[in-house]
Amino acid sequence: MSSDTFQPIQGMSDIVPPEVFQWQRIEETSRKVFRLYDFEEIRTPILERTEVFTRAIGDTTDVVQKEMYTFEDRGGRSLTLRPEGTAAVMRHVAGAGQDMASARLYYMGPMFRSERPQAGRRRQFHQIGVEALGEPNPAADAEVIALQVQLLKTWGISGAQIHLNTRGLPEDRESVRNGLRELLRPHLASLSEDSRRRYDENVLRVVDSKHPEDQAVVKDLPPISEFMSQASRDYFAEVLARLKDLRIQVAVNPRLVRGLDYYIHTVWEITHPALGAQDSVSGGGRYRMQFDGRTLDGVGFALGVERILMILEKLKGPTAGLPPKPPVLWIVSLGDKAFADNLRLLHELRALGIACRMDLSGRSMKAQMRNAQKGGARQVLIRGEDELARGIFVLKEMEHGSQEEVAFQDLVQRIS
Ligand code: HAM
Repeated sequence: MSSDTFQPIQGMSDIVPPEVFQWQRIEETSRKVFRLYDFEEIRTPILERTEVFTRAIGDTTDVVQKEMYTFEDRGGRSLTLRPEGTAAVMRHVAGAGQDMASARLYYMGPMFRSERPQAGRRRQFHQIGVEALGEPNPAADAEVIALQVQLLKTWGISGAQIHLNTRGLPEDRESVRNGLRELLRPHLASLSEDSRRRYDENVLRVVDSKHPEDQAVVKDLPPISEFMSQASRDYFAEVLARLKDLRIQVAVNPRLVRGLDYYIHTVWEITHPALGAQDSVSGGGRYRMQFDGRTLDGVGFALGVERILMILEKLKGPTAGLPPKPPVLWIVSLGDKAFADNLRLLHELRALGIACRMDLSGRSMKAQMRNAQKGGARQVLIRGEDELARGIFVLKEMEHGSQEEVAFQDLVQRIS
């Protein structure tokens, strides 16, 4: 067997101890913060009908054109592994009707994009995201930005930068596209091949192209908000005012357009210098989607968990912030009768909330002690036939090797 046999497929990872304790910490603290903002959890399937994503995200986006894991199931239906959470959440909300018109939802879990793997870019990655339903409202946009700021602070991440821009209303799209095309037309020949294609297909994406030859042209373009209606510009000004009220510092980045078509009005990305080339730890914005004739409005974001952990590692070192493995009490038995009674005790202690283990294979005392040590036991409880007859246990402190006899009735108090 080749060594590849034991590896997950490229761009996907096993998440194991001790790293997994970090994941749990991130998830647990997120849940606490979501509770403060009165968001509730939603868990949608990992697999959806393909059109859930193609319609909401947009046919000409990179995610839909190049990055989705799409296949036909046995019934000939086209299915897709979710590349993001928003469209799936909105699919649910659309089906739920008016009841969810102002729902505040959060989710965490794996997403899949068939991108070329590199540092910070995975094919299976994990997002923690929120979606707050409701009509456009600048204060609501500011509130979810504040929520992200609080999350980053809770995890001990400083130095993140919030880049903000507006995409305006859907009614502005035509005028933004025409305005951009007009200004770009004289430079078409010097744009990259990607951007020449996007000029017709999705000209907005030319604005945030990473190609140096495009950037040379784009840097002289006016902010896209210049092609928008006064109403859109006023909305954006109010978002900025609300953020100022909340003392949240942001940088307006007129080149930021985001790669998903559902956005309207406010869009943002949070970057961190510790991340390198893929420097966005979170992306979000206000959106409008149509599902079977229903129009849904909301605002939300998604943070990449792998990237949060990369930042923490850079800021604090590989194991910093890892909660220590909670100590487990090991029970060591000598003889069959003690084994049976200890097994029952194991069960009873766990019912009392005490974490404990026992070697179940009936090995020698030496082997059991070795196992306890390997398992990180701080204390070991030894009981053989003799202790059983006397109604006591021997409690051994692994750190200094001291041991003492403890009466059965004092046991729980001594170890908890
Ligand atoms: P997104 O910008 O595509 O937005 O992704 C959000 C975050 O997911 C990124 O900032 C990054 O941290 C992480 N991420 C994305 N792709 C990868 C990857 N290949 N490997 C590792 N991490 C990745 C969305 O997905 C929107 N649904 C966000 C949203 C929610 N907008 C409104 N509501």
